Amino acid sequence: MDDTQQTTPQNLESAFAGECQANHKYLAFADKAEKEGHRQVARMFRAAAESEAVHARNHLRAMGGVGSTKENLEAAVSGESYEFTKMYPEFILEAKAENNSQAETSFFNASEVEKIHHGLFQKALKVVEAGEKLADEGYFICLGCGNTMARDAPSRCSICGAFRAKFKRV
Ligand SMILES: [Fe+2]
Ligand SMILES: [Fe+2]
Repeated sequence: MDDTQQTTPQNLESAFAGECQANHKYLAFADKAEKEGHRQVARMFRAAAESEAVHARNHLRAMGGVGSTKENLEAAVSGESYEFTKMYPEFILEAKAENNSQAETSFFNASEVEKIHHGLFQKALKVVEAGEKLADEGYFICLGCGNTMARDAPSRCSICGAFRAKFKRV
């Protein structure tokens, strides 16, 4: 059987996408269970989410989706760029046309953050290409919109307006 007829590369793509979705669905379900006072159910969802993440990474490796750091940064730069130049702008227009303001905000916030990710990855790629290492510093993630800031959290999120306390250090 020649390569073009194989279904496994496609199956790995589907399985990877499905496991990634399950991971995040379960994390969101765990938050909800926690809020409803089902602590052990929350824990079960978090455990399963972690397990689905292992599956996702195994599938990704099996499909050759993890390269050198330089290659991975190149993939990240082009993926982020596609998201904020093409995918989200279209999704935002469609959500607006369909009066789905929650989706529109979710797409808009993600798109704005992808621009920031794109810049961070581009900067990192230049450093790695020069054979150097990135400076040691923390990142602060806005739990409202995903805004990603190096070094320090702002007093208010520039994208969603959340207060400093909503930023998580990575
Ligand atoms: Fe991103
Ligand atoms: Fe934010």
